[in-house]
Order: sequence, then structure tokens, then C-alpha cells
Amino acid sequence: MIISYPGNLSVRLYKLLMTRIKAMKITVTDNYKEQSELAASLMCNVIENRKNAVIGLPTGSTPLGMYKELIKSYNEGKISFAHVVTFNLDEYIGLPATDENSYNYYMNHNFFSFMDIDKKNINIPHGNTDDVTGECLRYEENIKAAGGMDIIFLGIGRNGHIGFNEPGEFFEPYTHQVILEKSTIDANSRFFGSVSKVPTSAITMGIKTILSARQIVLLASGKEKAEILKEALKGKITPKIPASILQLHEHIDVIADSEAAVYL
Ligand code: GLP
Repeated sequence: MIISYPGNLSVRLYKLLMTRIKAMKITVTDNYKEQSELAASLMCNVIENRKNAVIGLPTGSTPLGMYKELIKSYNEGKISFAHVVTFNLDEYIGLPATDENSYNYYMNHNFFSFMDIDKKNINIPHGNTDDVTGECLRYEENIKAAGGMDIIFLGIGRNGHIGFNEPGEFFEPYTHQVILEKSTIDANSRFFGSVSKVPTSAITMGIKTILSARQIVLLASGKEKAEILKEALKGKITPKIPASILQLHEHIDVIADSEAAVYL
């Protein structure tokens, strides 16, 4: 991959970045189906190589195809989640797990209920709590106690958010409460039927939490992600585009379909 010099970094940091960035692999697939198959196969590799794999999981439209492929592999007897531990990236604040727009509901209805995963190994932030700070600390501790994540899968928001880490003045390191940006609320209102029903805040893994995963897979599909994907992967590393920090990770696969990859 050809990277242009991000002018906001010192030469020393840039050289360090360049040695690391060699580890970033970008795969462009012809279509969404291929992207989903490839993402699922990366997850299967980790599970096959590590019995008690710890996996970070995303929500949104992008990973739905990957979840379908994993369910297919499970039904064909090719994969088991019996010993897998999962941590979801984020959850809305104020929605009970039974609300069909909560990420808890999304995960159960799109994935977990079709798999042989042990319920006690499923971790999703509790968004319907009176003690958000305590919940964030608990979540962070649980990831550590599980031995950290072997791999995490990410989508990317139209403003460059990962998980629910919104653009800002600095990178929030650990699991925290976030106030959602208007553009995120607008984008996600398609699931809620109206903008006014979208929660205004969420709990999300922090940037350091995400980067602590031993492997990262970033998924982007569709032309509406093309511009932000280019900025995130080829532009300056800045908290104004949270996904840009992924350039610093030592083991990252970007899987983009041809529409999302058009400017790469
Ligand atoms: C939400 C999620 C993100 C996800 C993003 C993009 O805001 N919190 O984790 O990456 O949406 O979703 P989509 O794949 O639907 O574009």
C-alpha cells in the first residue's frame, strides 16, 4: 500500500509508523458477498487456532453478511463457538436488551441464537444501567480478565467513527460513555423509524481498548464509505477521524468492497 506522508507527525514517528504500516493489508473484493466470506474466514482461522478465542464484534449493516456466513459454516459443521468468548464494541444507553434496536437484540437475532455459543461467554455493555461509569470499568476489566481480544471486527461510520468513538479533540482510551453526533443519529435513524427515537448516548470500547486487540479487521462496504475510508487509511492520524488511528496497528486487515475502495 502506498502511504503519503501525514504532515502532522515528526519524522521519527513517521518512520516508526512506516515500519508498522507494512502490516496493514488491504483487500478489495468484487462485491459484498465476497467481503463477508473473507471476513468470516478470518474469524474461523482464529477460532481454529485458539480454542478459547476472544473476539470483538461489531453491529451495523456491514457485518450482517459475515454473520450469515458464520451461521452457514456452523450449520455445515465446519465451526463451533462452544468455547469462544465475545465482546461487543458498543451499546446504546437507555435501551433495554429486549428493545429491538438495542445491539443486544441485534446480536441475538442476527447471530448468537443460531450458534452454539455459551451465553455466559457473551459480553455486551449494559446500556440500561444507572451506573454507566461502573459499567464501563466493569467492561474494561472483563476484557482484560479474558486475556484481551485475539481479533476484533470493525465497521466504520460515515464520519470515521469506530465502535461509537465519535470525532473529537482527543482519542478516548478506554470504555466510556459517548454523546452521539447528529450525523451518527441521522445515519442510524433508519433502524428506528425516526430521528427522535434514536438514543443520544452510548457506551463504547475506547480507542486503546480496540487497539489492544491482537488482530483487527476493518470492514467497509458501499460508495457512501469510500471518501471516509480514504481519509482514514491515507490521511493524517487525527482524533477528528477516529478510524485513522488504525494505521498504527501492527496487524490489521482492511476488507473493502469495490465501491468502498474506489479512492484507495
Ligand atoms: C454504528 C455502530 C458502528 C458501525 C457503524 C456503521 O454506529 N456503532 O460500530 O460500524 O454504525 O454501520 P453500518 O455498517 O450500518 O454503516
